Amino acid sequence: MAYQPKPLPFSSLRGISQKTLALHHGKLYDGMVKRRNAVAELLHGLLYGGGGKLLYANDMASELKSLKSAERRLSNAIALHELYFEALGGDGIPEVSIVPAIVEKFGTLDRFSRYFTASCLSARGWALLVWDPLDARLRVYTTDSDEEGVWSAKPIIVCDMAEHAYFLDFGTDKASYIRAFFANLNWSSVDRLYQVARK
Ligand SMILES: [Fe+2]
Repeated sequence: MAYQPKPLPFSSLRGISQKTLALHHGKLYDGMVKRRNAVAELLHGLLYGGGGKLLYANDMASELKSLKSAERRLSNAIALHELYFEALGGDGIPEVSIVPAIVEKFGTLDRFSRYFTASCLSARGWALLVWDPLDARLRVYTTDSDEEGVWSAKPIIVCDMAEHAYFLDFGTDKASYIRAFFANLNWSSVDRLYQVARK
């Protein structure tokens, strides 16, 4: 059975409009899932279609190369968007067990907030607080596209810094968008991801 889009885990947000959510979740995210399902169908066809086309695989230009690129990009985009929406819908009050770990790593919650905000402002794609098992640390990573990423990282807080996430409501005022993101942050969800990442 084809992968199905996950519903929004909330009905509305403060500061981020229903129109933005309808476009972001209802159109863009939903479209990514549909396109990834279409790519999976085409890859299935290559796998079971007699194998002839696989003989032409190469790293310059081939059907398999194009499909693998699309599969990677869409898979990353879907996973990151699901984490982004999952992080929202809360009251922004950080009374959860991850807080001491954030304070230990970043000094204070306020310093973490300023560092994460600055990281968001330096990204055109995504900013993430992650648990990186590579050296067992909380870290903030940024990307400019769905093509990039640190594969060892386990995302905990994911903020979408693509224009479609904020431009309708905030124009170029990215700082206000990030403040709205924190005001709607679901720290219970953040904490659950942290607990899962630490296992
Ligand atoms: Fe997005």
